[in-house]
Amino acid sequence: MVQIKIFDTTLRDGEQSPGVNLNQLEKLEIAKQLERFGIDVMEAGFPASSQGDFEAVRKIAQTIKNVSVTALARAKESDIDVAWEALKDATDPRLHVFIATSPIHMEHKLKKTPEEVIQIAVDMVTYGKQKGFKKIEWSAEDASRTDLEFLAQIVEKVIDAGATVINLPDTVGYTTPKEYGEMFRYMKDNVPNINKVDLSAHCHDDLGMALANSIAAIENGATQIEGTINGIGERAGNAALEELAVALTIRNDFYPYTTNIVLNETKRTSDLVSKLTGMAVPGNKAVVGRNAFAHESGIHQDGVLKNASTYEIISPEMVGIQSNNLVLGKHSGRHAFKDKIKQLGYDLSDDKLSEAFKAFKLLTDRKKEVTDDDLFVILTDIQTDVSNVKRYVLESFQVQYGSYNLPTATVALTTPEGSRAETACTGQGSVEALYNTLEKLVKEETHLTDYHLSSIGKGRDALAEAHVSMSVDGTQVNGRGSAQDVLEASAQAFLNAVNRVFLIQKTENKEKASI
Ligand code: KIV
Ligand code: ZN
Repeated sequence: MVQIKIFDTTLRDGEQSPGVNLNQLEKLEIAKQLERFGIDVMEAGFPASSQGDFEAVRKIAQTIKNVSVTALARAKESDIDVAWEALKDATDPRLHVFIATSPIHMEHKLKKTPEEVIQIAVDMVTYGKQKGFKKIEWSAEDASRTDLEFLAQIVEKVIDAGATVINLPDTVGYTTPKEYGEMFRYMKDNVPNINKVDLSAHCHDDLGMALANSIAAIENGATQIEGTINGIGERAGNAALEELAVALTIRNDFYPYTTNIVLNETKRTSDLVSKLTGMAVPGNKAVVGRNAFAHESGIHQDGVLKNASTYEIISPEMVGIQSNNLVLGKHSGRHAFKDKIKQLGYDLSDDKLSEAFKAFKLLTDRKKEVTDDDLFVILTDIQTDVSNVKRYVLESFQVQYGSYNLPTATVALTTPEGSRAETACTGQGSVEALYNTLEKLVKEETHLTDYHLSSIGKGRDALAEAHVSMSVDGTQVNGRGSAQDVLEASAQAFLNAVNRVFLIQKTENKEKASI
């Protein structure tokens, strides 16, 4: 069985999704979960893009021990210098350097001749090696629209220069499985030194073919697949890694390939990424969507009750969905709580453990059954709470309705300067009244572009989670909030988005570079 390496770029390409801006603690939580998920390589970010990204990559490189950590660099010595600074403490650091190779990119974007591009690519791989990187992935951006002969020529030269992985991305999601597979076959057949390296595929989903293209690459010699959790990423996103891992497992009769992915960590990984990025997973999404295991029609329900395999090709347990995950209750003590969170894979400092236990106890006063999903919300919120940055804090709120009156929200906040502010506004509905009030209370100019609400787990006492997308003083941000009350969750999501901008301002004091 051929072993396929899984390269996760949720924290880099995934983070390039519009409105997604994870802070350092959120990135670290995702990185730890990705390690539990069993990926082989983690692209932690693009350190030259901002001070915030640099610090997040450095922290991840210092923390993650069982996964090779990589960072993106443009074909520039200064980007490689910054990547080295961010990665030098990693157990297994690797550089990911790229340059575009398609005629359209070379002519219009780079304004370089093919010969110049070859020279830059070779020079940058050589520079990366001199800098200290033992592993170097080189990517031919827009490879799928590159002339094959030219691609083979440049690939051979960068391998000679010291590249250890060659990545051939379908940057714009344009290729078909047959074409993409043939490109890998061509490299295998025409690049004399190709067997010295891992060949990697990196597919975007603009035409909905990212996963099919990734599998076509494997069938034609790729030994590494790049993608993201939930398929998030630029534009239509990247290949969804959880779909790849499950497809290779379920159709193992057809695909003789294996990965190191720990399948029963799939749901938790997907939930964490969705929660922290604010990118909801569509109900009908393969493998992790809410409806992926729901059987609506009577005939299907009847079949599944008689034998699940009639209509269920993936068992929910395989991807970590437990039907009965009641864990702790009102009478559970600190000891049982500590054991449980350890079981869930969390490692909390004593202070954070006390904070989490307090939040758990508060929840047991209001909710009869506390599930793994509830604990996951408490723990994630505590682990990613950035309390050392100035911010707005919700003190109290009240929404009043009457049959003939517009709803009125009254909200009190502590401002970033530490003073108390209170006001009231009306709206056509309760959320609008609440948001009109918050908008009036905060100094920043806010514009709400998206809002959605979901429940964590099942039952009428389930926690509510609100996600918003907003422009705050011109910066596009996502915010989230969870609480048992939907209006409280909504207010927290609004303030989380505004507070996030303070953090961006604090960490991004350098000009943001882009790819
Ligand atoms: O899609 C792409 O080409 C990329 C490269 C930077 C690897 O993300
Ligand atoms: Zn990409």
